[in-house]
Order: sequence, then C-alpha cells, then structure tokens
Amino acid sequence: MTAKLRFTLTLLVTILGVAGLGSAQSANAPEDNKKPAAEKPSSPAQSAMKPDGDYVGSEVCASCHAEQEKSFVHTIMGNAMAHSKAAADARGCESCHGPGRRHVDAGGGKDTIPIRFTKDSPNTVEERNSACLSCHAKGNQLFWRGSPHESRAMACVDCHQVHYGTQAQRYAALGDEVRYSAPLTEHVGTKKPQPELCLTCHQMRRAQLQRSSHMPYREGKVTCTSCHNPHGSPNPTQLLQSTINENCYSCHTERRGPFLWEHPPVMENCANCHEPHGSSNPELLKVRMPRVCDSCHDASRHPTQAQPLSSIKNFNRGCTNCHSLIHGSNHPSGNHFLR
Ligand code: HEC
Ligand code: HEC
Ligand code: HEC
Ligand code: HEC
Ligand code: HEC
Ligand code: HEC
Ligand code: HEC
Ligand code: HEC
Ligand code: HEC
Ligand code: HEC
Repeated sequence: MTAKLRFTLTLLVTILGVAGLGSAQSANAPEDNKKPAAEKPSSPAQSAMKPDGDYVGSEVCASCHAEQEKSFVHTIMGNAMAHSKAAADARGCESCHGPGRRHVDAGGGKDTIPIRFTKDSPNTVEERNSACLSCHAKGNQLFWRGSPHESRAMACVDCHQVHYGTQAQRYAALGDEVRYSAPLTEHVGTKKPQPELCLTCHQMRRAQLQRSSHMPYREGKVTCTSCHNPHGSPNPTQLLQSTINENCYSCHTERRGPFLWEHPPVMENCANCHEPHGSSNPELLKVRMPRVCDSCHDASRHPTQAQPLSSIKNFNRGCTNCHSLIHGSNHPSGNHFLR
C-alpha cells in the first residue's frame, strides 16, 4: 500500500515538475521570439518597390522597359525574385544591372546603366560574371573560379539567357534549334539546347556524336551535363564524379563488381579501352578488336599478333568471342574471363 502511494506521489511530482518546466519554457518563448520579429525588416518584395539609395526599384525600370520586364517576370528567376525572402533578390532588375538611379535621372541611355550584357557592352567579363556570382557562388557553381571555362574568359551569359519570357515561349524558341530530342535534364535558362550549346565550341565532340558507336545523345538519353559540370568541378575534366570509373559506374552499375577475377585495366580506368563520346569502332572502343587487346597483351600461350582474316581472333568480336567476360568474372574458373 505504502509502495503504491510512494509511486503515485513520485509520479505526481514528476508530472508537476515537467509541467512546471514546460510552463517556464513557454513563458520565456514569446519573449525570445519577439525580438527577431520586431527587428524583421519590411518585406523585401515591398522594399523592391521603394527607392533605396541608388536603387530605384524594378517598378521604375518597367515604366520604360515594359518589354524586358515582361520577358523577365515569368522566368524561374523572375518568379524567385518576386517571392523572395532575401533582400538582394528583391532588387529585381538592379540585382543584375546595378543601381539605376543615375540611369533614370539621365532619362535612360546606354552609358549610364552600370552593367549591360548585350553584345556592345563595355563591361568586362569579370564584371558581368560577378553580377551573377553575387547570388550563384554556391551549389553547382561553387567551383567556377579557376574552372577551365572561367579561365578562358567565358561569361555566364555566353551560355545563359535571362530574359526568355514564359517557359512555354522558351521551349517554343528552342524548338527551332533542337536537332536532337531534348534530353531530360534540359534546362530552360540556356541560349541553346544541349548538346548544341556545347558543340558550338567543342567541334571534336560534334564529330564524335556522329560516329557509328556513340553515347545516346542523339537519342536524348544522355547529355553533356549527365557527366560534366560546365561550371567546373574539383574532378578531372569537369566530371561530376571523382574519377572516370565512378562516372561510368553511375549508370553502368553492373561494371563496379566486386569480381572474383578482376581485369586490372578495367578497375583502373574504363577509358583504357573506351572513348566515352563516340567512336567508329563497335562498343565505343578506342581501337578495333583485337588491336585494343594487343596494345597490352603479346603472344604467350596463344598468339595475339595479327592473324589471318579467317581466324576466330579477328572474326566479329575477336578476342571476346572467347574472353566474353572481359570486365571481370565471378566464375570460380573465370581467371581467363572465358566464363
Ligand atoms: C538575372 C540578371 C538580370 C535581371 C534580374 C534582369 N536582367 Fe536585363 N539583362 C540581363 C542579361 C543577361 C541580358 C542580355 C540578354 C539576355 O540574356 O536575355 C539583359 C538585357 C537587358 C536589356 C537589353 C535588352 C535587349 O535585348 O536589348 C534591358 C533593357 C534589360 N535587360 C532591362 C532589364 C529590366 C527592366 C529588368 C527588370 C524587369 C531586368 N533587365 C532584369 C540580365 C538581367
Ligand atoms: C526614363 C526611361 C528609362 C528608365 C526609367 C530606365 N531606362 Fe533603361 N534605358 C532607357 C533608354 C532610353 C535606354 C537606351 C536604349 C538604347 O539606346 O537602345 C536604356 C538602356 C538600358 C539598358 C541597356 C540596354 C542594352 O542595349 O544593353 C539597360 C540594361 C537598362 N536600360 C536597364 C534599366 C534598368 C535596370 C532600369 C531601372 C533601374 C532602367 N533601365 C530604367 C530608358 C530608361
Ligand atoms: C559552358 C556553358 C555554361 C556556362 C559558361 C555557365 N553555365 Fe550555368 N548552366 C549551363 C548548363 C548547360 C546548365 C543546365 C544544367 C542541367 O540542366 O543539367 C546550367 C545551369 C545553371 C543553373 C541552374 C542549375 C543550377 O546549377 O542550379 C544556374 C543557376 C547557372 N547555370 C548559373 C551559372 C552562372 C552563375 C554562371 C557563370 C558563373 C554559369 N552558369 C555559366 C551551362 C553554362
Ligand atoms: C539577386 C540574386 C540573383 C542574381 C544576381 C542572379 N540570379 Fe540566377 N537565380 C536566382 C534565384 C533565386 C534563382 C531560382 C533558384 C531556384 O529556384 O533554385 C535563380 C535561378 C537561375 C537559373 C535557373 C533557372 C532558369 O531560369 O533556368 C539560371 C540559369 C540562373 N539563375 C542564371 C543566372 C545568371 C546567368 C545570372 C547573371 C546574369 C544570374 N542568374 C543572376 C537569383 C539570382
Ligand atoms: C558518358 C559520360 C560523358 C558524356 C555524356 C560526355 N562526356 Fe566529355 N568526357 C567524359 C570523360 C570520362 C572524359 C575524360 C576522357 C579521358 O580523359 O580520356 C571527358 C572529357 C571531355 C573533354 C576533355 C577532353 C580532353 O581531351 O581533354 C571535353 C572537352 C568534353 N569531355 C566535352 C564533352 C561534351 C561537349 C559533351 C557533350 C556532347 C560531353 N563531353 C559528354 C565523359 C563524358
Ligand atoms: C564558348 C565556347 C565554349 C562553350 C559554349 C563550351 N565550352 Fe567547354 N571549353 C571551352 C574552352 C575554351 C575550354 C578549354 C579547352 C582546353 O583547355 O583545351 C573548354 C573545356 C572544356 C572541358 C575540359 C575541361 C578540362 O579539364 O580539360 C569540358 C569537359 C568542357 N569544356 C565541357 C563543356 C560542356 C559540357 C559545355 C556545354 C554545357 C561546354 N563545354 C561549352 C569552350 C567552350
Ligand atoms: C548518364 C548515364 C551514362 C553514363 C555516366 C555512362 N553511360 Fe555508357 N551508356 C549509357 C546509355 C544510356 C547507353 C545506351 C545503352 C543502350 O542503348 O542500351 C550507353 C552505352 C554504352 C556503351 C555501348 C555503346 C554501343 O555502341 O553499344 C559503352 C561501351 C558505354 N556506354 C561505356 C561507357 C563508359 C566507358 C562510361 C564512362 C566514361 C559510360 N558509358 C558512362 C549511359 C551512360
Ligand atoms: C580492357 C579493355 C576494356 C576496359 C578497360 C573496359 N572495357 Fe568495356 N568493353 C570492352 C570490350 C572489348 C567490349 C565489347 C564486348 C564484346 O564485344 O562482347 C566492351 C563493352 C562494353 C559495354 C557494352 C556491352 C555490354 O556488355 O553492355 C559497356 C557498357 C562497357 N564495356 C562498359 C565499360 C565500363 C563501365 C568500363 C570501366 C569500368 C569498361 N567497360 C572498361 C573492353 C573494355
Ligand atoms: C591497358 C592494358 C590492357 C588491355 C588493353 C587489355 N589487358 Fe588483359 N590484362 C592486363 C593486365 C595488366 C592483366 C593482368 C595480368 C596478370 O595478372 O598477370 C590482364 C589479364 C588478362 C587476362 C588474364 C590473363 C592471366 O594470365 O590472368 C586475359 C585473358 C586478358 N587480360 C584478356 C584481354 C583481352 C581479351 C583484352 C582486349 C579486350 C585485354 N585483355 C586488354 C592488361 C590489359
Ligand atoms: C578460340 C577462343 C579464344 C580466342 C579467340 C582468344 N583466346 Fe585467349 N585464351 C583462350 C583460352 C582457352 C585460354 C586459356 C589457355 C590456357 O589456360 O591454357 C586463353 C588465354 C589467354 C590469356 C592468358 C594466358 C596467356 O597466354 O598469357 C590471354 C592474355 C589471352 N588469352 C588473350 C587473348 C587475346 C588478346 C585474344 C585476341 C587476340 C584472345 N586471347 C583470343 C581462348 C581464346
């Protein structure tokens, strides 16, 4: 009986204690919350309307540039800026073109706007890029500085278009130029669809895409940014993954292994034998069979040097007629990749 009473008492005390603690917390809570709420600046969307130092607000710009306003507000960025929490976003037009008071006071003119992106722009690439990097220095753009494209003085707006209207308009505009069906990762904010965008400069890749064996770009299954980050990456050749093999495994997962019998060049680098962009040899091979094997293997138990045309070593898939598990085998007696 006393044990039960003690238990009930302990329970009561515990409950009261917890409740007391809770009420103490809830008593503090409103006070803690009040401060930031009181300091919170007026909504950025509102401050965009208001003049602020050298910034006049997008409304003023729109009064003369109705067309540009229309082609911006429905874009992803236009939308994001209109409903943004960050004060910088709410500068709207001026977040890219710079503070516009002087421009407005002068009644317009090309020389008075701090940053222009059109062809005859007097701004340096650096100046134009820093307008974008003020918001896009993280995420996929983290490694932009020092990347191959940055170091070749490329501007963000060499690839990107900002005033593209509604997404429907954008897709319609791209439609004329889409030579291949648009890949799934196609992004609306680029001047051209991929891979055409990249191929304007990378002509060698353009040629490779037309070869008999090619990654299915033309078929719209992969695109350049399936493997590369054009904004730079810490990895070789701007790859998304840290090595070439990791890149290939990201889609060809079955090649990762582990294998009981590994073929060392496969584990080392898929590009020992394959050319990822396209090749005139079957299966994206860099060199035709059996030459691709002969580049490392010489005759030991059976000759690997040039054979008569009728030889099974030349016929069709050559060496892999027998060594079919060339990427590695899990068969107990698969040490020669025959099974
Ligand atoms: C995210 C950056 C950005 C923002 C925000 C922005 N622009 Fe632009 N603006 C550009 C770029 C880049 C170009 C070059 C053309 C293009 O890429 O569409 C440009 C071009 C222009 C041009 C010249 C257009 C031409 O084709 O001759 C005008 C005028 C202009 N913008 C006004 C505005 C106005 C007005 C706003 C606000 C409604 C605005 N911009 C918002 C980046 C921006
Ligand atoms: C009083 C009307 C007026 C206002 C307000 C105005 N502009 Fe302009 N803007 C002009 C005129 C006129 C030009 C010169 C166009 C030309 O020469 O083709 C111009 C040129 C520009 C250009 C250069 C276009 C190019 O070819 O590269 C940009 C960018 C621009 N304005 C952005 C803005 C922004 C941003 C604002 C708001 C801060 C703004 N303008 C406000 C009239 C105005
Ligand atoms: C060589 C062409 C090229 C250059 C230069 C380039 N981009 Fe891109 N960017 C692309 C492509 C292509 C995509 C679409 C990627 C996708 O859809 O997978 C993209 C996507 C983006 C995106 C949207 C996706 C994301 O990463 O969040 C942003 C933002 C962006 N770029 C900003 C920039 C900025 C800022 C710069 C300059 C510092 C820049 N880009 C320079 C080609 C380029
Ligand atoms: C004031 C901040 C700000 C500036 C400056 C800015 N952006 Fe953006 N951008 C954004 C926001 C916010 C988004 C929406 C991001 C999201 O939805 O994830 C965005 C999205 C994008 C996208 C993907 C959406 C689309 O339309 O394809 C691209 C590409 C892009 N920005 C390129 C640029 C380029 C190029 C510049 C410089 C000319 C630039 N941005 C300048 C804030 C900014
Ligand atoms: C399936 C993945 C994949 C795709 C898709 C891909 N690449 Fe590559 N790319 C690679 C790999 C892997 C390398 C490194 C090859 C090597 O070092 O042998 C590379 C290298 C490159 C290089 C540097 C070549 C050199 O000799 O330094 C360029 C430029 C390039 N790719 C452009 C492109 C373009 C443009 C596209 C779109 C048409 C594209 N890539 C699509 C995987 C890919
Ligand atoms: C305006 C021209 C231009 C465009 C457009 C362009 N590139 Fe490049 N790219 C270059 C130049 C220049 C280099 C440096 C070449 C070199 O170092 O040999 C380069 C280098 C590269 C490299 C090799 C990086 C390395 O480390 O060797 C890759 C990968 C690449 N670009 C991918 C792309 C992709 C993907 C696109 C499309 C989204 C693209 N490029 C669009 C000009 C361009
Ligand atoms: C983004 C996904 C992706 C990545 C990454 C990728 N591949 Fe592929 N690969 C494919 C697709 C899709 C096919 C076409 C498969 C089909 O049609 O059945 C393919 C086909 C191939 C083929 C057969 C080509 C032919 O002519 O039949 C080879 C060989 C190949 N890939 C090697 C590689 C190598 C090597 C790498 C790494 C550099 C790689 N792949 C990275 C998606 C990818
Ligand atoms: C030692 C040379 C060599 C290396 C290294 C190599 N492969 Fe292959 N690969 C071949 C040969 C040879 C074929 C053609 C097979 C055939 O004819 O049966 C092939 C075919 C392929 C195919 C298409 C046929 C299939 O079986 O699906 C893919 C995909 C592929 N390889 C991916 C890879 C990947 C991923 C790597 C890196 C992990 C890699 N290869 C490394 C020699 C190699
Ligand atoms: C980049 C060099 C390279 C290429 C190309 C290459 N191999 Fe190999 N291969 C090796 C190495 C290294 C070994 C391991 C040798 C060892 O363990 O003694 C090996 C092992 C083998 C073995 C097992 C032999 C043994 O003694 O265990 C066979 C079979 C074989 N390779 C067949 C091929 C065929 C067929 C091709 C062409 C599709 C090929 N290799 C392409 C480097 C290469
Ligand atoms: C007719 C089937 C067949 C063809 C075609 C064939 N091999 Fe072989 N290979 C074998 C067999 C079976 C063995 C195992 C021999 C043994 O255990 O005595 C072997 C063993 C090997 C070995 C390991 C033993 C050694 O000699 O060091 C290598 C390396 C090799 N082959 C490479 C090649 C290359 C390269 C080609 C293409 C030029 C090729 N093979 C074509 C059946 C074939």
